[in-house]
Amino acid sequence: MSDRIANSHLRSLVMSAEEAAEHINDGDTIGMSGFTGAAYPKALPTAIAEKAKAFHGRGDDFKVNVLTGASTAPDADGVMAEADAINFRMPYQSDPVMRKKINAAEMKYQDVHLSHSGLQVEQGFFGNIDVAIVEVARITEEGHLIPSSGVGNNIEYLEEADKIILEVNSWQSLDLEGMADIYRVPRLPNRTPIPINNVGDRIGTPYIQIDTDKVVAIVETDAPDRNSPFKEPDEVSKQIAGNFLEFLEAEVAAGRLTYDRFIMQSGVGNVPNAVMAGLLDSKFEKITAYTEVVQDGMLDLIDAGKMTVASATSFALSPEYADKMNREAKKYREHLVLRPLQISNSPEVIRRMGLIASNGMIEADIYGNINSTQVGGSRIMNGIGGSGDFTRNAFASTFISPSVAKDGAISAIVPFASHIDHTEHDAMVIITEYGYADLRGLAPRDRVAKMISVAHPDYRPLLEEYYERALKNPHQQTPHDLRTAFDFHINLAERGSMNSFES
Ligand code: COA
Repeated sequence: MSDRIANSHLRSLVMSAEEAAEHINDGDTIGMSGFTGAAYPKALPTAIAEKAKAFHGRGDDFKVNVLTGASTAPDADGVMAEADAINFRMPYQSDPVMRKKINAAEMKYQDVHLSHSGLQVEQGFFGNIDVAIVEVARITEEGHLIPSSGVGNNIEYLEEADKIILEVNSWQSLDLEGMADIYRVPRLPNRTPIPINNVGDRIGTPYIQIDTDKVVAIVETDAPDRNSPFKEPDEVSKQIAGNFLEFLEAEVAAGRLTYDRFIMQSGVGNVPNAVMAGLLDSKFEKITAYTEVVQDGMLDLIDAGKMTVASATSFALSPEYADKMNREAKKYREHLVLRPLQISNSPEVIRRMGLIASNGMIEADIYGNINSTQVGGSRIMNGIGGSGDFTRNAFASTFISPSVAKDGAISAIVPFASHIDHTEHDAMVIITEYGYADLRGLAPRDRVAKMISVAHPDYRPLLEEYYERALKNPHQQTPHDLRTAFDFHINLAERGSMNSFES
Protein backbone atom coordinates (compact mmCIF):
# COMPACT_ATOMS: atom_id res chain seq x y z
CA MET A 1 0.00 0.00 0.00
CA SER A 2 1.35 3.43 -0.89
CA ASP A 3 2.28 5.98 1.76
CA ARG A 4 0.02 8.50 0.07
CA ILE A 5 -2.86 7.83 2.47
CA ALA A 6 -1.76 9.35 5.77
CA ASN A 7 -5.15 9.08 7.50
CA SER A 8 -5.45 5.71 9.27
CA HIS A 9 -9.25 5.45 9.07
CA LEU A 10 -9.19 6.08 5.32
CA ARG A 11 -6.29 3.67 4.90
CA SER A 12 -8.50 0.92 6.32
CA LEU A 13 -10.91 1.45 3.40
CA VAL A 14 -8.48 0.50 0.63
CA MET A 15 -9.99 -2.13 -1.69
CA SER A 16 -10.00 -3.20 -5.31
CA ALA A 17 -11.89 -1.24 -7.97
CA GLU A 18 -14.26 -4.19 -8.42
CA GLU A 19 -15.08 -4.18 -4.69
CA ALA A 20 -15.54 -0.41 -4.74
CA ALA A 21 -17.90 -0.73 -7.73
CA GLU A 22 -20.22 -2.77 -5.50
CA HIS A 23 -21.20 0.60 -4.01
CA ILE A 24 -22.57 1.71 -7.39
CA ASN A 25 -26.17 0.75 -8.19
CA ASP A 26 -28.34 0.85 -11.28
CA GLY A 27 -29.81 4.35 -11.66
CA ASP A 28 -27.18 6.07 -9.52
CA THR A 29 -25.98 9.55 -10.33
CA ILE A 30 -22.21 9.78 -10.07
CA GLY A 31 -20.26 13.02 -9.64
CA MET A 32 -16.86 12.20 -11.09
CA SER A 33 -13.56 14.05 -11.27
CA GLY A 34 -11.99 14.54 -14.69
CA PHE A 35 -11.22 17.45 -16.95
CA THR A 36 -9.84 17.37 -20.51
CA GLY A 37 -8.16 14.01 -20.02
CA ALA A 38 -6.65 14.88 -16.64
CA ALA A 39 -7.51 13.92 -13.05
CA TYR A 40 -10.24 11.44 -13.99
CA PRO A 41 -10.56 8.17 -12.02
CA LYS A 42 -8.48 5.51 -13.78
CA ALA A 43 -9.94 2.30 -12.28
CA LEU A 44 -13.60 2.75 -11.34
CA PRO A 45 -14.95 3.56 -14.84
CA THR A 46 -13.70 0.22 -16.18
CA ALA A 47 -15.04 -1.59 -13.10
CA ILE A 48 -18.43 0.09 -13.59
CA ALA A 49 -18.40 -0.81 -17.30
CA GLU A 50 -17.65 -4.46 -16.45
CA LYS A 51 -20.43 -4.49 -13.86
CA ALA A 52 -22.86 -3.05 -16.44
CA LYS A 53 -21.85 -5.71 -18.97
CA ALA A 54 -22.39 -8.47 -16.40
CA PHE A 55 -25.87 -7.09 -15.55
CA HIS A 56 -26.79 -6.71 -19.23
CA GLY A 57 -25.52 -10.24 -19.89
CA ARG A 58 -28.05 -11.54 -17.33
CA GLY A 59 -30.80 -9.44 -18.90
CA ASP A 60 -30.80 -6.93 -16.03
CA ASP A 61 -30.77 -3.14 -16.27
CA PHE A 62 -27.67 -1.20 -15.28
CA LYS A 63 -27.09 2.39 -16.27
CA VAL A 64 -25.78 5.36 -14.34
CA ASN A 65 -25.78 9.12 -14.84
CA VAL A 66 -22.30 10.61 -15.03
CA LEU A 67 -21.50 14.22 -14.18
CA THR A 68 -17.91 15.48 -14.41
CA GLY A 69 -15.89 18.63 -14.74
CA ALA A 70 -15.39 18.18 -18.50
CA SER A 71 -14.12 15.49 -20.91
CA THR A 72 -12.26 12.45 -19.60
CA ALA A 73 -10.57 9.76 -21.69
CA PRO A 74 -11.15 6.46 -23.54
CA ASP A 75 -10.62 4.53 -20.28
CA ALA A 76 -13.39 6.51 -18.59
CA ASP A 77 -16.08 7.97 -20.91
CA GLY A 78 -15.02 5.57 -23.68
CA VAL A 79 -15.33 2.29 -21.76
CA MET A 80 -18.54 3.26 -20.03
CA ALA A 81 -20.19 4.40 -23.28
CA GLU A 82 -19.03 1.22 -25.05
CA ALA A 83 -20.65 -0.86 -22.30
CA ASP A 84 -23.93 1.11 -22.57
CA ALA A 85 -23.45 1.93 -18.90
CA ILE A 86 -24.49 5.59 -19.14
CA ASN A 87 -28.00 6.96 -19.28
CA PHE A 88 -27.25 10.69 -18.95
CA ARG A 89 -24.03 12.69 -19.19
CA MET A 90 -23.17 16.31 -18.45
CA PRO A 91 -21.55 18.89 -18.81
CA TYR A 92 -18.95 18.15 -21.57
CA GLN A 93 -17.50 15.21 -23.47
CA SER A 94 -15.22 14.69 -26.45
CA ASP A 95 -15.02 10.91 -26.67
CA PRO A 96 -15.60 9.38 -30.14
CA VAL A 97 -17.54 6.34 -28.84
CA MET A 98 -19.67 8.48 -26.56
CA ARG A 99 -20.29 11.01 -29.33
CA LYS A 100 -21.61 8.21 -31.54
CA LYS A 101 -23.94 6.91 -28.82
CA ILE A 102 -25.28 10.41 -28.12
CA ASN A 103 -25.91 11.12 -31.80
CA ALA A 104 -27.63 7.72 -32.17
CA ALA A 105 -29.93 8.58 -29.21
CA GLU A 106 -28.49 5.67 -27.21
CA MET A 107 -27.67 7.99 -24.33
CA LYS A 108 -28.62 11.51 -23.28
CA TYR A 109 -26.29 14.46 -22.98
CA GLN A 110 -26.78 17.93 -21.62
CA ASP A 111 -24.15 20.32 -22.89
CA VAL A 112 -23.84 22.92 -20.10
CA HIS A 113 -21.78 26.11 -19.69
CA LEU A 114 -19.04 24.82 -17.38
CA SER A 115 -19.41 27.76 -14.98
CA HIS A 116 -23.06 26.77 -14.52
CA SER A 117 -22.48 23.05 -14.07
CA GLY A 118 -21.39 22.93 -10.41
CA LEU A 119 -23.95 25.54 -9.49
CA GLN A 120 -26.76 23.53 -11.09
CA VAL A 121 -25.59 20.41 -9.24
CA GLU A 122 -25.96 22.34 -5.95
CA GLN A 123 -29.36 23.56 -7.05
CA GLY A 124 -30.56 19.99 -7.52
CA PHE A 125 -31.22 19.97 -11.27
CA PHE A 126 -29.50 16.58 -11.64
CA GLY A 127 -31.24 15.02 -8.65
CA ASN A 128 -29.48 13.41 -5.73
CA ILE A 129 -25.77 12.75 -6.16
CA ASP A 130 -25.42 9.17 -4.97
CA VAL A 131 -21.67 8.75 -5.26
CA ALA A 132 -18.66 11.00 -5.83
CA ILE A 133 -15.67 9.29 -7.47
CA VAL A 134 -12.65 11.55 -7.28
CA GLU A 135 -8.98 11.07 -8.09
CA VAL A 136 -6.46 12.66 -5.71
CA ALA A 137 -2.67 12.84 -5.46
CA ARG A 138 -2.58 12.28 -1.70
CA ILE A 139 -4.70 12.15 1.47
CA THR A 140 -3.32 14.00 4.49
CA GLU A 141 -3.34 12.81 8.09
CA GLU A 142 -6.42 14.98 8.73
CA GLY A 143 -8.19 13.31 5.81
CA HIS A 144 -7.86 16.34 3.53
CA LEU A 145 -7.55 15.70 -0.20
CA ILE A 146 -4.63 16.97 -2.28
CA PRO A 147 -6.00 17.38 -5.82
CA SER A 148 -4.17 15.68 -8.68
CA SER A 149 -3.98 17.31 -12.12
CA GLY A 150 -7.34 19.07 -11.99
CA VAL A 151 -10.08 20.36 -9.69
CA GLY A 152 -13.20 20.89 -11.86
CA ASN A 153 -16.45 20.34 -9.96
CA ASN A 154 -14.90 18.10 -7.30
CA ILE A 155 -15.92 20.27 -4.36
CA GLU A 156 -19.59 20.25 -5.40
CA TYR A 157 -19.61 16.47 -5.98
CA LEU A 158 -17.80 15.67 -2.72
CA GLU A 159 -20.19 17.90 -0.77
CA GLU A 160 -23.40 16.77 -2.43
CA ALA A 161 -22.76 13.01 -2.66
CA ASP A 162 -24.14 10.50 -0.17
CA LYS A 163 -21.03 8.30 -0.59
CA ILE A 164 -17.46 9.05 -1.62
CA ILE A 165 -14.99 6.79 -3.44
CA LEU A 166 -11.45 8.11 -3.75
CA GLU A 167 -8.77 6.98 -6.18
CA VAL A 168 -5.24 7.74 -4.98
CA ASN A 169 -3.04 7.82 -8.07
CA SER A 170 0.67 7.44 -7.38
CA TRP A 171 1.51 8.38 -11.00
CA GLN A 172 0.59 11.97 -10.12
CA SER A 173 3.49 14.00 -8.75
CA LEU A 174 3.49 14.71 -5.03
CA ASP A 175 4.95 18.09 -5.97
CA LEU A 176 1.52 19.10 -7.27
CA GLU A 177 0.72 19.84 -3.62
CA GLY A 178 0.46 23.59 -3.32
CA MET A 179 -0.67 24.19 -6.90
CA ALA A 180 -4.40 24.00 -6.14
CA ASP A 181 -6.14 26.93 -4.50
CA ILE A 182 -9.41 25.68 -3.03
CA TYR A 183 -11.97 28.32 -2.25
CA ARG A 184 -15.65 27.56 -1.77
CA VAL A 185 -17.88 30.00 -3.63
CA PRO A 186 -20.65 30.71 -1.10
CA ARG A 187 -24.00 29.22 -2.06
CA LEU A 188 -26.78 31.44 -3.33
CA PRO A 189 -28.28 33.63 -1.95
CA ASN A 190 -25.23 34.32 0.18
CA ARG A 191 -22.79 35.22 -2.59
CA THR A 192 -19.97 37.58 -1.85
CA PRO A 193 -17.42 38.86 -4.38
CA ILE A 194 -14.66 36.36 -5.26
CA PRO A 195 -11.57 38.20 -3.96
CA ILE A 196 -9.33 37.64 -6.99
CA ASN A 197 -7.89 40.81 -8.50
CA ASN A 198 -4.80 39.39 -10.20
CA VAL A 199 -4.38 36.15 -12.13
CA GLY A 200 -2.07 34.58 -9.53
CA ASP A 201 -3.97 35.58 -6.36
CA ARG A 202 -4.34 32.69 -3.92
CA ILE A 203 -7.44 32.94 -1.73
CA GLY A 204 -8.01 29.44 -0.33
CA THR A 205 -6.32 26.25 0.86
CA PRO A 206 -4.11 23.76 -1.05
CA TYR A 207 -6.47 20.91 -0.07
CA ILE A 208 -10.15 19.96 -0.20
CA GLN A 209 -11.81 19.27 3.14
CA ILE A 210 -14.42 16.50 3.14
CA ASP A 211 -16.70 14.64 5.51
CA THR A 212 -14.54 11.51 5.90
CA ASP A 213 -17.53 9.57 7.28
CA LYS A 214 -18.97 9.54 3.75
CA VAL A 215 -15.95 7.72 2.29
CA VAL A 216 -16.87 4.10 1.54
CA ALA A 217 -13.85 3.01 -0.50
CA ILE A 218 -10.34 3.98 -1.52
CA VAL A 219 -8.74 2.53 -4.62
CA GLU A 220 -5.03 2.85 -5.35
CA THR A 221 -3.94 3.41 -8.94
CA ASP A 222 -0.74 4.15 -10.79
CA ALA A 223 -1.85 5.24 -14.24
CA PRO A 224 -1.14 8.25 -16.44
CA ASP A 225 -3.57 10.92 -17.48
CA ARG A 226 -4.58 10.29 -21.07
CA ASN A 227 -4.18 13.18 -23.42
CA SER A 228 -3.48 13.02 -27.08
CA PRO A 229 -0.38 14.66 -28.48
CA PHE A 230 -0.81 17.94 -30.37
CA LYS A 231 -0.06 18.01 -34.08
CA GLU A 232 2.99 20.01 -35.12
CA PRO A 233 1.58 23.36 -36.28
CA ASP A 234 0.91 23.16 -40.04
CA GLU A 235 1.10 26.11 -42.47
CA VAL A 236 -2.56 27.05 -41.96
CA SER A 237 -2.25 27.03 -38.14
CA LYS A 238 0.87 29.19 -38.40
CA GLN A 239 -0.96 31.68 -40.60
CA ILE A 240 -3.87 31.80 -38.14
CA ALA A 241 -1.39 32.34 -35.29
CA GLY A 242 0.21 35.16 -37.31
CA ASN A 243 -3.18 36.80 -37.84
CA PHE A 244 -3.99 36.48 -34.14
CA LEU A 245 -0.73 38.29 -33.34
CA GLU A 246 -1.53 40.94 -35.93
CA PHE A 247 -4.84 41.50 -34.13
CA LEU A 248 -2.97 41.86 -30.80
CA GLU A 249 -0.56 44.35 -32.40
CA ALA A 250 -3.55 46.37 -33.66
CA GLU A 251 -4.93 46.42 -30.11
CA VAL A 252 -1.60 47.79 -28.91
CA ALA A 253 -1.61 50.42 -31.68
CA ALA A 254 -5.15 51.42 -30.66
CA GLY A 255 -4.04 51.85 -27.03
CA ARG A 256 -6.26 49.06 -25.71
CA LEU A 257 -3.40 46.70 -24.85
CA THR A 258 0.26 47.00 -23.85
CA TYR A 259 3.08 44.58 -24.59
CA ASP A 260 3.47 43.58 -20.96
CA ARG A 261 -0.14 43.32 -19.82
CA PHE A 262 -1.71 40.72 -22.03
CA ILE A 263 -4.04 38.36 -20.15
CA MET A 264 -5.07 35.44 -22.30
CA GLN A 265 -7.66 32.69 -22.31
CA SER A 266 -7.09 29.91 -24.76
CA GLY A 267 -9.36 27.05 -25.80
CA VAL A 268 -7.97 23.58 -26.35
CA GLY A 269 -6.82 22.27 -29.74
CA ASN A 270 -4.10 22.29 -32.31
CA VAL A 271 -4.72 25.83 -33.53
CA PRO A 272 -4.70 27.43 -30.04
CA ASN A 273 -1.43 25.62 -29.36
CA ALA A 274 0.02 27.09 -32.56
CA VAL A 275 -1.09 30.54 -31.37
CA MET A 276 0.89 30.04 -28.17
CA ALA A 277 3.91 28.97 -30.18
CA GLY A 278 3.52 32.25 -32.11
CA LEU A 279 3.56 34.23 -28.84
CA LEU A 280 6.99 32.77 -28.03
CA ASP A 281 8.53 34.93 -30.75
CA SER A 282 6.35 37.99 -30.18
CA LYS A 283 7.02 41.29 -28.44
CA PHE A 284 4.63 40.35 -25.65
CA GLU A 285 6.21 39.89 -22.22
CA LYS A 286 4.90 39.05 -18.74
CA ILE A 287 1.94 37.29 -20.32
CA THR A 288 -0.57 35.78 -17.90
CA ALA A 289 -3.47 33.42 -18.52
CA TYR A 290 -6.81 33.37 -16.74
CA THR A 291 -8.05 30.31 -18.53
CA GLU A 292 -9.61 26.89 -18.15
CA VAL A 293 -6.75 24.50 -18.88
CA VAL A 294 -2.95 24.51 -18.80
CA GLN A 295 -1.62 23.50 -22.23
CA ASP A 296 1.78 22.59 -23.64
CA GLY A 297 2.24 26.05 -25.13
CA MET A 298 1.86 27.65 -21.70
CA LEU A 299 4.66 25.53 -20.24
CA ASP A 300 6.85 26.65 -23.16
CA LEU A 301 5.96 30.29 -22.47
CA ILE A 302 6.78 29.81 -18.76
CA ASP A 303 10.10 28.13 -19.62
CA ALA A 304 10.98 30.99 -21.98
CA GLY A 305 10.25 33.54 -19.24
CA LYS A 306 7.41 34.98 -21.35
CA MET A 307 4.54 33.89 -19.09
CA THR A 308 4.58 34.70 -15.40
CA VAL A 309 1.49 32.91 -14.15
CA ALA A 310 -1.50 30.93 -15.40
CA SER A 311 -4.73 30.24 -13.55
CA ALA A 312 -6.82 27.24 -14.71
CA THR A 313 -8.85 24.36 -13.34
CA SER A 314 -6.92 21.49 -14.91
CA PHE A 315 -4.12 20.37 -17.18
CA ALA A 316 -4.69 19.49 -20.84
CA LEU A 317 -1.17 18.37 -21.66
CA SER A 318 0.22 16.02 -24.28
CA PRO A 319 1.81 12.83 -22.86
CA GLU A 320 5.28 14.33 -23.36
CA TYR A 321 4.39 17.51 -21.45
CA ALA A 322 2.49 15.57 -18.77
CA ASP A 323 5.75 13.70 -18.07
CA LYS A 324 7.60 16.99 -17.99
CA MET A 325 5.06 18.35 -15.53
CA ASN A 326 5.52 15.29 -13.34
CA ARG A 327 9.28 15.81 -13.30
CA GLU A 328 9.17 19.57 -12.78
CA ALA A 329 5.96 20.20 -10.84
CA LYS A 330 7.94 21.89 -8.06
CA LYS A 331 9.07 24.56 -10.52
CA TYR A 332 5.74 24.93 -12.31
CA ARG A 333 3.70 25.27 -9.13
CA GLU A 334 5.33 28.70 -8.69
CA HIS A 335 3.63 29.73 -11.94
CA LEU A 336 0.36 27.79 -11.94
CA VAL A 337 -2.81 27.96 -9.85
CA LEU A 338 -5.48 25.25 -10.19
CA ARG A 339 -8.88 26.51 -9.08
CA PRO A 340 -12.38 25.06 -8.76
CA LEU A 341 -14.33 25.42 -12.02
CA GLN A 342 -16.78 27.90 -10.51
CA ILE A 343 -13.77 30.21 -10.03
CA SER A 344 -11.58 29.46 -13.07
CA ASN A 345 -14.63 30.17 -15.28
CA SER A 346 -16.32 32.75 -13.08
CA PRO A 347 -17.96 35.46 -15.24
CA GLU A 348 -17.35 37.93 -12.41
CA VAL A 349 -13.60 37.36 -12.32
CA ILE A 350 -13.24 37.03 -16.11
CA ARG A 351 -14.91 40.42 -16.60
CA ARG A 352 -12.62 41.94 -13.96
CA MET A 353 -9.50 40.54 -15.64
CA GLY A 354 -10.20 42.22 -18.98
CA LEU A 355 -8.76 39.27 -20.85
CA ILE A 356 -8.65 38.34 -24.52
CA ALA A 357 -10.46 35.07 -25.17
CA SER A 358 -9.60 32.77 -28.03
CA ASN A 359 -11.59 29.63 -28.83
CA GLY A 360 -12.09 27.24 -31.71
CA MET A 361 -15.34 27.04 -33.68
CA ILE A 362 -17.17 24.80 -36.10
CA GLU A 363 -18.62 27.67 -38.15
CA ALA A 364 -19.45 31.35 -38.08
CA ASP A 365 -22.10 33.08 -40.14
CA ILE A 366 -21.83 36.29 -42.11
CA TYR A 367 -23.08 38.33 -39.13
CA GLY A 368 -20.78 36.71 -36.56
CA ASN A 369 -22.98 34.10 -34.88
CA ILE A 370 -20.83 31.16 -33.82
CA ASN A 371 -21.51 27.43 -33.82
CA SER A 372 -19.05 25.66 -31.51
CA THR A 373 -20.88 22.41 -30.98
CA GLN A 374 -23.22 20.91 -33.60
CA VAL A 375 -22.23 19.85 -37.10
CA GLY A 376 -25.12 20.46 -39.49
CA GLY A 377 -27.18 21.78 -36.59
CA SER A 378 -27.89 18.32 -35.19
CA ARG A 379 -24.72 16.27 -34.67
CA ILE A 380 -22.85 17.02 -31.45
CA MET A 381 -19.09 17.33 -31.73
CA ASN A 382 -17.91 18.00 -28.15
CA GLY A 383 -19.80 20.71 -26.30
CA ILE A 384 -19.70 24.39 -25.42
CA GLY A 385 -17.28 23.79 -22.53
CA GLY A 386 -16.09 27.07 -21.08
CA SER A 387 -16.17 28.95 -24.37
CA GLY A 388 -19.39 30.75 -23.42
CA ASP A 389 -18.10 31.69 -19.96
CA PHE A 390 -15.10 33.41 -21.50
CA THR A 391 -16.62 34.73 -24.73
CA ARG A 392 -19.46 36.56 -23.02
CA ASN A 393 -17.21 38.18 -20.42
CA ALA A 394 -13.86 38.82 -22.08
CA PHE A 395 -12.70 42.28 -23.05
CA ALA A 396 -12.21 40.93 -26.57
CA SER A 397 -13.58 37.55 -27.70
CA THR A 398 -11.94 35.90 -30.66
CA PHE A 399 -12.76 32.70 -32.54
CA ILE A 400 -10.04 30.99 -34.54
CA SER A 401 -10.47 28.34 -37.22
CA PRO A 402 -9.14 27.19 -40.56
CA SER A 403 -11.42 28.63 -43.28
CA VAL A 404 -12.30 25.13 -44.51
CA ALA A 405 -12.54 21.60 -43.06
CA LYS A 406 -12.52 18.14 -44.66
CA ASP A 407 -10.29 19.07 -47.62
CA GLY A 408 -12.40 22.06 -48.58
CA ALA A 409 -15.78 20.30 -48.53
CA ILE A 410 -16.85 22.43 -45.55
CA SER A 411 -16.63 26.20 -45.21
CA ALA A 412 -16.16 27.64 -41.73
CA ILE A 413 -17.96 30.78 -42.88
CA VAL A 414 -21.58 30.11 -43.82
CA PRO A 415 -24.66 32.21 -44.63
CA PHE A 416 -26.48 31.21 -41.43
CA ALA A 417 -24.93 29.13 -38.63
CA SER A 418 -26.81 25.84 -38.31
CA HIS A 419 -26.66 26.08 -34.50
CA ILE A 420 -25.68 29.11 -32.44
CA ASP A 421 -23.68 28.87 -29.23
CA HIS A 422 -22.27 32.41 -29.20
CA THR A 423 -24.45 35.10 -30.68
CA GLU A 424 -23.39 38.03 -32.83
CA HIS A 425 -23.69 40.08 -29.62
CA ASP A 426 -20.89 38.12 -27.92
CA ALA A 427 -18.39 37.11 -30.60
CA MET A 428 -16.16 40.01 -31.60
CA VAL A 429 -13.27 38.92 -33.79
CA ILE A 430 -13.19 35.98 -36.23
CA ILE A 431 -9.75 34.79 -37.32
CA THR A 432 -8.81 32.40 -40.13
CA GLU A 433 -5.67 31.95 -42.22
CA TYR A 434 -6.97 34.77 -44.44
CA GLY A 435 -6.96 37.45 -41.74
CA TYR A 436 -9.15 38.69 -38.95
CA ALA A 437 -12.63 40.19 -39.09
CA ASP A 438 -13.05 42.66 -36.24
CA LEU A 439 -16.80 43.06 -35.85
CA ARG A 440 -16.72 45.44 -32.91
CA GLY A 441 -18.56 48.70 -33.47
CA LEU A 442 -20.20 47.47 -36.67
CA ALA A 443 -23.89 47.11 -37.48
CA PRO A 444 -24.74 43.65 -38.92
CA ARG A 445 -24.71 44.66 -42.60
CA ASP A 446 -21.31 46.30 -42.18
CA ARG A 447 -19.86 43.01 -40.89
CA VAL A 448 -20.64 40.96 -43.97
CA ALA A 449 -17.76 42.10 -46.19
CA LYS A 450 -15.31 41.53 -43.31
CA MET A 451 -16.62 38.05 -42.70
CA ILE A 452 -16.46 37.15 -46.39
CA SER A 453 -12.85 38.41 -46.51
CA VAL A 454 -11.77 35.72 -44.04
CA ALA A 455 -13.67 32.94 -45.87
CA HIS A 456 -11.81 30.61 -48.24
CA PRO A 457 -11.62 32.17 -51.76
CA ASP A 458 -13.60 29.22 -53.18
CA TYR A 459 -16.55 30.14 -50.99
CA ARG A 460 -16.44 33.95 -51.26
CA PRO A 461 -18.54 34.22 -54.49
CA LEU A 462 -21.18 31.88 -53.02
CA LEU A 463 -21.38 33.96 -49.84
CA GLU A 464 -21.63 37.17 -51.89
CA GLU A 465 -24.43 35.66 -54.00
CA TYR A 466 -26.26 34.68 -50.85
CA TYR A 467 -25.92 38.20 -49.43
CA GLU A 468 -27.27 39.70 -52.67
CA ARG A 469 -30.36 37.53 -52.24
CA ALA A 470 -30.62 38.45 -48.56
CA LEU A 471 -30.60 42.13 -49.45
CA LYS A 472 -33.94 41.62 -51.20
CA ASN A 473 -35.54 40.91 -47.84
CA PRO A 474 -37.79 43.87 -46.96
CA HIS A 475 -36.36 43.85 -43.42
CA GLN A 476 -32.78 45.03 -43.40
CA GLN A 477 -31.37 44.89 -39.85
CA THR A 478 -29.95 41.37 -40.30
CA PRO A 479 -31.15 40.39 -43.76
CA HIS A 480 -31.52 36.74 -44.62
CA ASP A 481 -33.04 34.76 -47.46
CA LEU A 482 -34.53 31.98 -45.38
CA ARG A 483 -35.29 29.82 -48.43
CA THR A 484 -31.57 29.41 -49.17
CA ALA A 485 -29.97 30.21 -45.78
CA PHE A 486 -29.03 26.57 -45.20
CA ASP A 487 -28.11 25.62 -48.77
CA PHE A 488 -24.44 25.14 -47.77
CA HIS A 489 -25.50 22.61 -45.11
CA ILE A 490 -28.05 20.92 -47.35
CA ASN A 491 -25.44 20.53 -50.10
CA LEU A 492 -23.02 18.99 -47.61
CA ALA A 493 -25.61 16.52 -46.35
CA GLU A 494 -26.90 15.58 -49.81
CA ARG A 495 -23.82 15.88 -52.02
CA GLY A 496 -20.86 15.72 -49.64
CA SER A 497 -19.68 19.27 -50.15
CA MET A 498 -20.96 22.72 -49.21
CA ASN A 499 -20.10 24.14 -52.62
CA SER A 500 -21.60 21.37 -54.68
CA PHE A 501 -24.81 23.03 -55.87
CA GLU A 502 -27.46 21.28 -57.95
CA SER A 503 -26.82 22.19 -61.57
N1 COA B 1 -18.10 20.82 -39.94
C1 COA B 1 -17.72 19.55 -39.69
N2 COA B 1 -16.57 19.23 -39.06
C2 COA B 1 -15.77 20.26 -38.69
C3 COA B 1 -16.08 21.59 -38.94
C4 COA B 1 -17.31 21.86 -39.61
N3 COA B 1 -17.70 23.11 -39.87
N4 COA B 1 -15.09 22.37 -38.48
C5 COA B 1 -14.17 21.55 -37.94
N5 COA B 1 -14.58 20.28 -38.08
C6 COA B 1 -13.87 19.07 -37.64
C7 COA B 1 -12.47 19.01 -38.20
O1 COA B 1 -12.48 18.50 -39.52
C8 COA B 1 -11.80 18.08 -37.22
O2 COA B 1 -12.23 16.76 -37.49
P1 COA B 1 -11.25 15.50 -37.33
O3 COA B 1 -10.99 15.41 -35.86
O4 COA B 1 -12.07 14.38 -37.88
O5 COA B 1 -10.04 15.86 -38.15
C9 COA B 1 -12.43 18.50 -35.88
O6 COA B 1 -13.67 19.15 -36.23
C10 COA B 1 -11.56 19.44 -35.09
O7 COA B 1 -11.29 20.58 -35.87
P2 COA B 1 -9.89 21.39 -35.87
O8 COA B 1 -9.91 22.30 -37.05
O9 COA B 1 -8.72 20.45 -35.70
O10 COA B 1 -10.04 22.38 -34.63
P3 COA B 1 -10.04 22.20 -33.06
O11 COA B 1 -9.24 21.03 -32.60
O12 COA B 1 -9.69 23.56 -32.55
O13 COA B 1 -11.60 21.93 -32.71
C11 COA B 1 -13.84 22.56 -32.16
C12 COA B 1 -12.64 22.80 -33.10
C13 COA B 1 -14.93 23.57 -32.47
C14 COA B 1 -14.41 21.16 -32.37
C15 COA B 1 -13.32 22.72 -30.69
O14 COA B 1 -12.68 23.97 -30.58
C16 COA B 1 -14.45 22.64 -29.67
O15 COA B 1 -14.91 21.56 -29.32
N6 COA B 1 -14.91 23.79 -29.16
C17 COA B 1 -15.98 23.89 -28.20
C18 COA B 1 -15.50 23.86 -26.78
C19 COA B 1 -14.53 24.95 -26.47
O16 COA B 1 -14.51 26.00 -27.09
N7 COA B 1 -13.71 24.69 -25.47
C20 COA B 1 -12.73 25.61 -24.99
C21 COA B 1 -13.33 26.39 -23.91
S1 COA B 1 -12.28 26.89 -22.66
